[in-house]
Amino acid sequence: MQDRSSNTMGVHTQTKCYIVTDLDNTLVGNAAATQEFNRKILAWQPQVGLIYATGRSYQSAKHLQRSEDLLEPHYWITGVGSEIYYQGDLDQSWSDHLMHQWDRSRILALTKDFPEFIPQPDRSQSDFKISFFLYDNNATEILARLRDRIRAEGLDAHVVYSSREDLDILPVRCDKGLAMRHLMTRLGLTNDNTIVCGDSGNDIGLFKQNTLGVIVNNAQAELLDWHREHGQDSSGNSHQRIHYANAECAAGMLEGIQKFQPDLF
Ligand code: GLC
Ligand code: MG
Repeated sequence: MQDRSSNTMGVHTQTKCYIVTDLDNTLVGNAAATQEFNRKILAWQPQVGLIYATGRSYQSAKHLQRSEDLLEPHYWITGVGSEIYYQGDLDQSWSDHLMHQWDRSRILALTKDFPEFIPQPDRSQSDFKISFFLYDNNATEILARLRDRIRAEGLDAHVVYSSREDLDILPVRCDKGLAMRHLMTRLGLTNDNTIVCGDSGNDIGLFKQNTLGVIVNNAQAELLDWHREHGQDSSGNSHQRIHYANAECAAGMLEGIQKFQPDLF
């Protein structure tokens, strides 16, 4: 890891853990806490790796990086896992992997039967991501109908709903957590030396991978609901592997990282 003015980044054999974090309302949201996180990450080099996992496109995430003064991470997972970037280059092997059972035009066609869906701007759409805004008190039922429709047509996809607003339809092999797993395999990371951090529905995929995790205090209801229902570890009686922080945004991340890696502090 080097500072953001540099493009080169090695993965070091001394790596103690990797932090995989969402951006909006997790790493970003409290500027002072974000900068405190940056200072810690720089001080921890080369022991701690950093991956951003965001719903934003790569271009939009780079824009946020500049405006919020974020460090350059080792890897970028963008578009809710639909793209992986390393040193500015798209990981083509990941894109190839996502093509499995993905028929974008047929999925797009069947969404026309859902008048509640408001298309997001073109810049938020990509080969492996179809995104809408959905503001409706009956969103749960509408999404159940969408999933049924996809199955009835003999198709398959991941339907991800975040913040009572954002609807992403993705290939069945795609979410933030599956993209992270691809990188974990490549980097030789284990569930015990990977810490995911997030606040909303599109982060559930990260938490499902059974790594360590930090839910920031300002999390959305859908992530807290998921945690209540599925967040137990394999012994079934505790949430030891996922820390629900008392602090918000990057301060909550640091709180959780301190719990899992006290030696760093
Ligand atoms: C970001 C993306 C948007 C997506 C949302 C939730 O805001 O720009 O397309 O729907 O994240 O994943
Ligand atoms: Mg977020």
